[in-house]
Amino acid sequence: MNYRHAYHAGNFADVLKHAILALCIEHLKAKATPFRVIDTHAGIGVYDLQSEAAQKTGEWHDGIERLTKADMPAAIGGLLAPYLQCVDALKAFKRRHVYPGSPEIARYLTRAEDRMIFVEKHPQDAKKLADVFSFDGRAKILELDGYVAAKAYVPPKERRGLVIIDPPYEERDEFSTMFAAFVDAYRKWPTGMYLLWYPVKNREETKRFLVQLAEAGIPKILRGELRVKAVTELGGLAGSGLIIVNPPWKLADELRVLLPWLDGVLQQGEGHGWNVDWLAGESQSSSV
Ligand SMILES: C[S@@+](CC[C@H](N)C(=O)[O-])C[C@H]1O[C@@H](n2cnc3c(N)ncnc32)[C@H](O)[C@@H]1O
Repeated sequence: MNYRHAYHAGNFADVLKHAILALCIEHLKAKATPFRVIDTHAGIGVYDLQSEAAQKTGEWHDGIERLTKADMPAAIGGLLAPYLQCVDALKAFKRRHVYPGSPEIARYLTRAEDRMIFVEKHPQDAKKLADVFSFDGRAKILELDGYVAAKAYVPPKERRGLVIIDPPYEERDEFSTMFAAFVDAYRKWPTGMYLLWYPVKNREETKRFLVQLAEAGIPKILRGELRVKAVTELGGLAGSGLIIVNPPWKLADELRVLLPWLDGVLQQGEGHGWNVDWLAGESQSSSV
């Protein structure tokens, strides 16, 4: 387990993932009944952008920094509001350049009656996560394999909510491991919302994963993908995507407004682009 998210926090992939996560949580809040957010690969929750790790890669300059400096039409401002309010509130609270990970976004946006489970396998990171969030009685923090947790903790007793699965893709077979864990969890809780993050590094690998999902017999699967540059044989991170199973009503329309704008702001050169399409359901628009 060499991956440390501190090197990548606030990069273009975090922007896409966290903006969509925030929108999904906001949609869940449209109903008064409580829900639960289960984050299987939680990281440490809050990232110091002035740390040695963040300075070393400087990735956040091409992510959250570009976003905060961009001119934002009102419609985009509305869609990004929950996410950016969380970013700003954390910065104001800590009085330094920090960035929220997915657990902090969930903690910030959820209500008193909602609950969270944050899972992290790396012992040191799990300890940091517990240090940051144990003050909040709504959150359970577990040092555990996120794939085991994905299956073990669904359905939550609220029977509403979302599971976010955001692995580092360090292992060669991580696409298959994540797919299998998701299917196991989905079988136990088919009405839950699931957010599955994937990297765009290698076209064939990504396509195999998307086809596998499309053929899994799951009725509603939406995909939002953003590539900031061309995918090359060298295999660097050219983009990322989020699969949303059982997405909130209207999310597809919102992403069709948001992603073209993010594409313009975050692009790094030729080959950039975006997709919002249905891998399954809603008359299936995907061409993967
Ligand atoms: C991409 S980072 C997570 C970032 C976080 N979700 C966010 O958006 O702020 C992936 C995390 O998964 C952890 N990890 C790796 N393998 C894991 C496993 N099998 N179960 C749980 N956590 C794991 C890593 O230590 C790392 O902190």
